[in-house]
Amino acid sequence: MTSDKLKQVTHIDNVRLSDDDCSVIIIDQTRLPNHVEYISLHTAQEIWDAIHLLKVRGAPAIGIAAGYGIYVLARQIESDNYETFLTEFHRQAEYLNSSRPTAVNLSWALRRMEQVVKDNASLSVPEILDLLGKECRAIHEEDIAMCRAISEYGLSLLKDGDGVLTHCNAGPLATSRYGTGQGPLFLAAEKGVNIKVFADETRPLLQGARLTSYELHNAGVDVTLICDNMASIVMKNGWVQACMVGCDRVAANGDAANKIGTSGVAILAKHYGIPFYVLGPTSTIDMNCPTGDDIKIEQRNPDEIKEMFYAEPVALKDVKCYNPSFDVTDHELITAIITDKGICRPPYTESLAKLFE
Ligand code: MRU
Repeated sequence: MTSDKLKQVTHIDNVRLSDDDCSVIIIDQTRLPNHVEYISLHTAQEIWDAIHLLKVRGAPAIGIAAGYGIYVLARQIESDNYETFLTEFHRQAEYLNSSRPTAVNLSWALRRMEQVVKDNASLSVPEILDLLGKECRAIHEEDIAMCRAISEYGLSLLKDGDGVLTHCNAGPLATSRYGTGQGPLFLAAEKGVNIKVFADETRPLLQGARLTSYELHNAGVDVTLICDNMASIVMKNGWVQACMVGCDRVAANGDAANKIGTSGVAILAKHYGIPFYVLGPTSTIDMNCPTGDDIKIEQRNPDEIKEMFYAEPVALKDVKCYNPSFDVTDHELITAIITDKGICRPPYTESLAKLFE
C-alpha cells in the first residue's frame, strides 16, 4: 500500500512545463535538502545554466528538461518561415546540448525533438509547435513508464531483508517517479519489502547525502548514509547483498558511465562477491558508442572540490585539482544491466543489441 509520504517523494514535480507552456519549472536540486525551491526557466541561458550547474540533474531528468526547454525556446522563434525556424531551432538545440557532455539523454532528447521539425517540413510553424509540445510531453510520460518497469525488474533481483548499496542519486529527483538505480528501493517500500539501503555520500557534490538519503528517508525507507570510503567496510561486514546504481551513458559493449566513484564500488563488489547492477532506461544506452573509451567524461570546476558546501575552503586556492564528474565501469564488473525492456546479462554486445531489434 502506498503511504502518503512515499507518494510525496515519488510523485515530486521535479521538471515540468508551466501551464502556459512558456517556461520550464524545476526544483532547484542545488538547494536541497535544506530548501525546497522551484525556479522558472524561460531563456536559453537560464536553461543551459540550470543543466550545467546541476539545478536539474540525473540523466533522464536532464533529457526531460532539454525536451521541455527546446520547446519553450522554439515557441520564442519569431518566424513563420520553415527554413528560418529549422535553422534557429537547430542553433538553440546545439547550444543546450553543450551544457553537459556525458549523459546521452541530453542529446537523445534534443535529437528527438529536432526530428519532429525535420519530419514535418510541409506543416506550418504553429502546427509544428503543436507537435513539439506533444513530443516533449511524450518523452516525460515514457520516462515515467520506463522507470516503473526498471524498478519492477530490479526488485525481482532482491529479497526481503537484503542490504543494497547505492551511489549518487538515481531516484525520483533524477528521473520520473521511482527512479532507476534507486527505483527498486522505492518500489520495495511500496510493496512492503524490507530493504536496508547504504547510500554513498558521493563526493564532491554530495548527491548521495543531499538527495538520495533525503528522498529515501522521507519515503520511510531504512537508509544509512556513509562516506564513499566506507563502502568496503560495509561490504566486508556482510551488510550488502547487492549494489544498484544508475547510469549516464551505456556503451554498446556494456561499459557504463556513471557518477565518479561508481567504478570503485564495482571493483569492491567483485572483491566481496556481491552482484553489481546498473539500472537505466533504453534512452541511456548509446549503441553508437562502441566502448566506454568513447564516452566523453565531463571535467568540472575545481572549486566543487575545494569550496562548495564548505564554510571555508578545504584546500589552498592554487592547489591543482582533478575533478572528473563521471567514471566508466568496465562491463566485466557488471552482473546485469537492468532496463525498461528487461534484464541484460553478459555478453552485453549481444543482450543490449537485442533490445533495439
Ligand atoms: O552529475 P549528475 O548528478 O547529473 O550525475 C548523475 C548520475 O551519475 C546518476 O547516477 C545518473 O545520471 C543516473 S540518474 C537516473
